[in-house]
Amino acid sequence: MTLHAEDLMNMHSITRRDFVRLGAGAVAAGAAVKATLLEPSTAMAAQTVTGGGAGGAGESTTGRKIRFVSIGTGIRGCDLLRAARQVPTGVCVGTADLYEMHRRAGKEAWGVEIPTTRDYRTLLDRKDVDAVIVAVADFQHRRVVLDAVAAGKDVYCEKPMSHSVADGQAMVEAVRAGKRIFQAGSQRVSNIVYKKAAEIYASGRLGEVHLIEGHSDRNTPSGAWVYPIPPDASPETIDWEGFLRDAPSRPFDAARFFRWRCFADYGEGVAGDLFVHLLSGIQCISGINAVPSRAYSTGSLTHFNDGRDFPDLLATLYDYPGVTVNLHCNQNNAAGEPIIFYGSEATMVINGNTLTVTPQDTSPQPEGYSLNGWTAAAKQQYLDEWHAAHPAPPTTPGEVESYAAPQGYNDTADHIANFFRAVETREHVVEDEVFGNNAAIACHQANYSYFHRTVATWDAATKTIKG
Ligand SMILES: NC(=O)c1ccc[n+]([C@@H]2O[C@H](COP(=O)([O-])OP(=O)(O)OC[C@H]3O[C@@H](n4cnc5c(N)ncnc54)[C@H](O)[C@@H]3O)[C@@H](O)[C@H]2O)c1
Repeated sequence: MTLHAEDLMNMHSITRRDFVRLGAGAVAAGAAVKATLLEPSTAMAAQTVTGGGAGGAGESTTGRKIRFVSIGTGIRGCDLLRAARQVPTGVCVGTADLYEMHRRAGKEAWGVEIPTTRDYRTLLDRKDVDAVIVAVADFQHRRVVLDAVAAGKDVYCEKPMSHSVADGQAMVEAVRAGKRIFQAGSQRVSNIVYKKAAEIYASGRLGEVHLIEGHSDRNTPSGAWVYPIPPDASPETIDWEGFLRDAPSRPFDAARFFRWRCFADYGEGVAGDLFVHLLSGIQCISGINAVPSRAYSTGSLTHFNDGRDFPDLLATLYDYPGVTVNLHCNQNNAAGEPIIFYGSEATMVINGNTLTVTPQDTSPQPEGYSLNGWTAAAKQQYLDEWHAAHPAPPTTPGEVESYAAPQGYNDTADHIANFFRAVETREHVVEDEVFGNNAAIACHQANYSYFHRTVATWDAATKTIKG
C-alpha cells in the first residue's frame, strides 16, 4: 500500500514531530511512503486470545506455566511484572526487594497476592521455582545471578548485564558451567520492528554498511535520573546494609539508593543505562556479536552537575568488524533515540517502534561540478560521450518503505515470552550471556576511554580493556 506522510501519521497515531524524527528528514512530509503495519507478536496475540498473565489459559506446548520469582521490584521490576501479566506462559510466585514500598508496589504490579521477602535467597531455595527475573541495580547483578545459577534457576537479568568486565566474565562462566538459560534484558532484541530491520539488513538491500549511528537524547531531570526521594525513605524502610553488600560502606544516603545510576559504585552512567540499548539493537540488527576492538569517548558534565560521577554528554566512536559505530547520549537535548544504518544502497532508520528504509539514488550520473572549470566545447564533448556510453534512461530510487508495530505493542512482553519459551524448550535465546556481555563490555569501554582520556582497546587474550 502506498501512502503519503499524512496517512502514515494517522495510521500509526504518531505525531508530525515523531514522523519527521523518523529519518532525520529522510522522509519529507508529502513524500510517497509504502507503509506496512507489522503483524502483532505472539505475546500480543496470546494476550488477545487468553486475556493473558495470571488469569490466562497458557500457550506453552506442555500447558505448564513457567514459575518465576522477581528479585528487585523497583521501577523496572514493576514494569517487568506488568509486562509479564501479558504473557500467559509464566506465573510469578514470589518477589524480593530491600525497600518496603517497592515490595508492596511489586505485589500491585503483578495484581495477585504473592509472597514477598527482603531476602531473595529464600526464594532461590524454593524447589517450585523455575526461573528468576533479576531487576536489581547493576552492581548487584553478578551476586544475584551467580546465586540464582547456583540454585539451578534460569535467569532473565536486566541490562546492562554487568557492572564491570570481571563481573560479566564471572556471569558467563557460571551460566555455562551450570548449563542455564540466560537472557539479558535489552527488550528491543525481541521487538518485531527490530526483527524486520534485521531481516532487511541480512537481505543485503542496504548495500554495504560501514557506518551506524545512534543516539539517546533527552532533557528532563527524570531522564538524567534525578528521581524524587519517596517521603518514607529511611534506614527503617530500606535495608541499606543489604544494598551496600558489594559496594564501599557509607552512611545511609537515600539519593544514592534511588539515583544509583549517577554513581560509579553502583551504575555506569549513560553508557550502561542508554548506550546498552543502542548497542544491543545494533548487535541484533547487524548480526555483529562482538566486542569493539577500539572505543574513543569524549563528553562533559554541565547541565546536571549535581555531584554525580558521570558525564551528561557522552559521545563514543567504536570500531566493530567492518563497521564504525558512532553513539552519543546527551541529557541536555530531547532529540530522541534513533539508530541509523548508512548503506551504499539505502539508509535505514529505526526510531521507537517505527522503521524507515530510504533507497539511495545510485543511478550513474554525468560529472557536473568539476566541469565548471572546463570550456564549453570540452564540456559538451564530455557530455556527448557520457550519454553515448549510458544509453539507458535514468532510473529513479525505489519507494520509501516504512514499518511500524501495532499500537500498544510492548516489546518487554515479547522479550519475557521469548525467555519463558527458552526455559520450557531449552532452546537458545538471541540475547544470551555472550551477547549481553559483549554489549556491556562496549559500555565499559566507553567509560574507560572517557575517564582515562585515551582510546580503549579490547585485549581478547586477557579479556580486559587496555588504554
Ligand atoms: N530494560 C530496560 O528498559 C530497563 C529500564 C530501567 C531499568 N533497567 C535495569 O533494571 C535494573 C533495576 O533498575 P530500576 O530502575 O528498577 O532501579 P530501582 O532502584 O528502581 O530498583 C532496584 C530495586 O532492587 C532492589 N534491590 C537491590 N538489591 C537487592 C537485593 N540484594 N535483594 C533484593 N532487592 C534488591 C532495590 O531495593 C530496588 O527496589 C537495573 O539493572 C537497570 O539498569 C532496565
